Amino acid sequence: MNETRQAMSNRVLIKAPAKINLTLDVMGQRADGYHELETVMHQVDLCDRVYVEREPEGIILATDNPVIPVDQSNLASRAAALILERYAIKSGVKIFLEKNIPVEAGLAGGSVDAAAVLTAVNDIFDLRLNREELQELGAELGSDVPFCLAGGTALCTGRGELVKLLPEGPELNLLLIKPPFSLATADIYRHYRPERVGKRPRLELFLAAWQRCDMMEVARQMNNVLESVSIPMKPEIQTIKESAVRLGAIAAIMSGSGPTVAAVFTSQIEAENAARQMRLLYRECYVVKSIKK
Ligand code: C5P
Repeated sequence: MNETRQAMSNRVLIKAPAKINLTLDVMGQRADGYHELETVMHQVDLCDRVYVEREPEGIILATDNPVIPVDQSNLASRAAALILERYAIKSGVKIFLEKNIPVEAGLAGGSVDAAAVLTAVNDIFDLRLNREELQELGAELGSDVPFCLAGGTALCTGRGELVKLLPEGPELNLLLIKPPFSLATADIYRHYRPERVGKRPRLELFLAAWQRCDMMEVARQMNNVLESVSIPMKPEIQTIKESAVRLGAIAAIMSGSGPTVAAVFTSQIEAENAARQMRLLYRECYVVKSIKK
């Protein structure tokens, strides 16, 4: 993953960036209940900071965000439990999550913290697992975790866990707007009906624009079929998209299963100007940029 590490012998700090989906298409439903995806995931510079420290035993989790559970249901705890158990490590870890990524937002905040914990435990206990081995463990935790371990921008298929990194593309100036409600990923997928989708992403056009670093065309080709589920449920998502465009965005799209809207602007100044207006209505607005690999 795209980490900044401060490797001391028993303690690691990892920067864990949020992701947005620039395109998301559902190719079908699978026998295992998951949906087959074709999605371009893209990391941005809104980061949690994940501290992991060796402990004699157990898994201790703390966070500065009071809404996040600190029991064994937390994906970061589950990541620690999985890797410690799989490699028969008798010691434990203490984890602290400094949360900057909004929770239940469609920005993979939980997944990227879990990815950071896998990376940290690998380092602290000198397990020497390579990226692919960590990604296999990550896939057991959630569909987005393998991408979070890879970072940058990638075309993700399967249930999202098959990650093919893309070459460097345009740097995007984005405004993320998180409405004051959450959507449950499982609910959004459960209510997905292909016949209700108006327009699907044209992946070949998106990828061609990406390759030639054509920021305007990349923005125009952004498309997420899960909006066909979330917008009828929460029409405010459509209102936010339209407001962003009125405030100068080239285009705006819901990220993942939502509800955060990501709007692309031609410059950081434009994004900041729009953010000032948006903040009058929405507390959680973030001006961010692409992370380069
Ligand atoms: O993999 P993850 O735990 O993040 O997925 C959460 C839920 O979202 C799954 O239990 C499933 O209901 C739904 N999902 C899906 N198809 C995917 C990814 C997620 O149906 N490709």
